[in-house]
Amino acid sequence: MTLKLIILFNLFINVSLSYKPVILVHGIMTGSGSMEIIKYRIQEKHPGTIIYNVNRFERWSSLETMWHQVLEIGQDIANISSQHPEGINVIGYSQGGLVARGIIQTFSNISVDTFISLSSPQAGQYGAGFLHVVFPGLVKETAYELFYSRVGQHTSVGNYWKDPYHQKLYETYSVFLPYLNNHIMSDKSADFKANILKLKRLVLIGGPDDQVITPWQSRYFGYYSVNETVVEMKSQDIYLEDTIGLRTLDESGRLHIVTVPGVNHFDWHMNVSIVDDCLLPYLD
Ligand SMILES: *[C@@H]1O[C@H](CO)[C@@H](O)[C@H](O)[C@H]1NC(C)=O
Ligand SMILES: *[C@@H]1O[C@H](CO)[C@@H](O)[C@H](O)[C@H]1NC(C)=O
Ligand SMILES: *[C@@H]1O[C@H](CO)[C@@H](O)[C@H](O)[C@H]1NC(C)=O
Ligand SMILES: *[C@@H]1O[C@H](CO)[C@@H](O)[C@H](O)[C@H]1NC(C)=O
Repeated sequence: MTLKLIILFNLFINVSLSYKPVILVHGIMTGSGSMEIIKYRIQEKHPGTIIYNVNRFERWSSLETMWHQVLEIGQDIANISSQHPEGINVIGYSQGGLVARGIIQTFSNISVDTFISLSSPQAGQYGAGFLHVVFPGLVKETAYELFYSRVGQHTSVGNYWKDPYHQKLYETYSVFLPYLNNHIMSDKSADFKANILKLKRLVLIGGPDDQVITPWQSRYFGYYSVNETVVEMKSQDIYLEDTIGLRTLDESGRLHIVTVPGVNHFDWHMNVSIVDDCLLPYLD
């Protein structure tokens, strides 16, 4: 072979074997450092993968409003995406998975192949245990008094707090989740759905021993009905009426629901076997 051909051949091999870049979005009250186990494991098992580990809105800043985080981090990811026309993969942990979905639904100039939501409150949250560091004395029964107010909406948690006993207040005050889920329609609703339908894969990971995401089924759009009885995703309006495209993704084989028992919320992103068994198979 001539040198030119060898170079071409190598180029072909490199291109065909390369993994798409991965973007990691951290959870609440932590930062990019908490995502390093995932980062190093991906780089070990999928050598050559470019990884962008989002370091905005770390620790206390992670309490800033969801829309603010979506728009700021979204600009960065749009920029990254424009440099990788072959597509990118996104992994969001906990609140980061909801920020990431907000970005994917909002930015039509981001081209995501696979989006993995690692134990994120996609249908909302009604459990305050993990919030005591931030809001001492907060209990779930009365948290709505804080979160369903204009002041309460200045925190990320308020934006996805969903109290099953106060649905009307949720619809009146929440400026984020009911809109992102097309529960309340807006001029953005059509884009929210069209953008999520561009995904090649939506992977929703979580499990019954999570103990923070409440109900734990929220990680795949199951949620409480008017009381604390859980209604599974497939019986929810968001699925039945295909308001954001979940049903279409499912019926075209693009929705992957992964349930892993025995994992506490604070271990999902620290557990190498979760990376090996639940993340790597979807990253190509
Ligand atoms: C986008 O990326 C380019 C190249 O890395 C950089 O120079 C530019 O500042 C970035 N823009 C934003 C808005 O992040
Ligand atoms: C992506 O779209 C947003 C508006 O939705 C725009 O502000 C941003 O500059 C665009 N970024 C790139 C890299 O095209
Ligand atoms: C909760 O509501 C459902 C109907 O939405 C009802 O069937 C069930 O009995 C209720 N459970 C409790 C504990 O009130
Ligand atoms: C790690 O994940 C595996 C499942 O892949 C689970 O069996 C194990 O208990 C987890 N370990 C921890 C410390 O959460």
